[in-house]
Amino acid sequence: MSTHLHINLRKAQALTKLFIAPGNAGTGQLGENVDLAVTDFEGIKNFCINNQIEMVIVGPEEPLVKGIADFFRSDGALQNIPVIGPRQKGAMLEGSKDFAKDFMYRHGIPTAAYRSFDKETLEEGFSFIDSLMPPYVLKADGLAAGKGVVILENSGEAKAELTQMLMDEKFGAASRKVVIEQFLPGIELSVFVVTDGANYKLLPSAKDYKRIFEGDKGPNTGGMGAVSPVPFANADFMAKVEETIVKPTVTGLQADGITYKGFIFIGLMNVGGEPFVIEYNCRMGDPETEVVLPRIKSDIIDLLEGVAHSSLDKVYLEIDERAAATVMVVSGGYPDEYEKGKIITGLDDVDNKTTAYQTGTKLDEHGNIVTNGGRVIAFTSLASDLETALRRSYRNVDRVDFDGKFYRKDIGRDVL
Ligand code: AMP
Ligand code: GLY
Repeated sequence: MSTHLHINLRKAQALTKLFIAPGNAGTGQLGENVDLAVTDFEGIKNFCINNQIEMVIVGPEEPLVKGIADFFRSDGALQNIPVIGPRQKGAMLEGSKDFAKDFMYRHGIPTAAYRSFDKETLEEGFSFIDSLMPPYVLKADGLAAGKGVVILENSGEAKAELTQMLMDEKFGAASRKVVIEQFLPGIELSVFVVTDGANYKLLPSAKDYKRIFEGDKGPNTGGMGAVSPVPFANADFMAKVEETIVKPTVTGLQADGITYKGFIFIGLMNVGGEPFVIEYNCRMGDPETEVVLPRIKSDIIDLLEGVAHSSLDKVYLEIDERAAATVMVVSGGYPDEYEKGKIITGLDDVDNKTTAYQTGTKLDEHGNIVTNGGRVIAFTSLASDLETALRRSYRNVDRVDFDGKFYRKDIGRDVL
């Protein structure tokens, strides 16, 4: 998990001590990094017991999909420690596209028409492709580190891709099942919900910039920048999102007997003013979090305690009216091959209008902050208008340097 949540946590009244596993050079300045993998449940268990941990906030999807919340609930020594994040069944909203689509269909939540296929039904998959208009959207059912969605312009390519996904397991076990769905034309945005299983709060919306190159060209990344609020997500549109998507999602989970305590990140397409769900994630996202959480003015521990104790309806959530913009600085070559270990200079020159959230960094043996991932630092600024927020972030991006530094210069330009 990157530093954004930790900054909100640092400001929280009830916080006594903050540990981050595994953390990075940035989180090390906000709390104590713990050298534990997020899927090392036994290691996390021992750590929690030895350090009297009072709440566990799960950042990424993998431990949730692998059942970390269930692991805590079923362990006598851990069951009283609240876990922010759904159990395995709820995490399936992200862990299986087929599960998510079936959930949306059953609960009448607007989403693209689809069918799912496996090895045995490859031929039917070909016929389904023939019945659709291009472009063709193919999605590996399981977790594929953000790479499992392929959009193709011609049916021959789509059939070849389907064959590779199913027969050659192109995305490993994740593509043993493939969802093929109707292409939705429109503009994307994300909404964030936090729920205690019955009550929910809507957090600020965000728009991210997924492709590596300017003008939305090149391969998909985790996101090269984000803005919040989303200018086209006006009150009318957001009311539709809440009525047709958020409420039926929360009540649908309840109706299916799934106790969901945590964040729901809903990827949406605005198709001519009507919202459709593209995907669910069972967590917050990066870089969306770096613009959503800075706009939460109220105490984040109060919010999370509300989730833990099923009292979210009694929690006061105050949102900052200002606009937030974040620019992600990445390692040259990302999202494909890139080098690590490059010394980062200029972090001390970042001014107080901007927060530099470190995501892929570490301290080397000489105490230098060096790159340690493809996504390196997100520069977030708040301002009364988006243009100023962007200008502040870019000004500070220029102050920081490392070998291979790369970023998009057009974040937010399309919505200004
Ligand atoms: P996902 O990993 O499900 O978020 O999909 C990755 C990206 O593919 C999305 O952010 C969209 O840009 C695009 N996408 C996914 N599904 C559709 C769809 N049905 N129509 C158009 N674009 C889509
Ligand atoms: N930015 C997309 C994600 O976190 O999944």
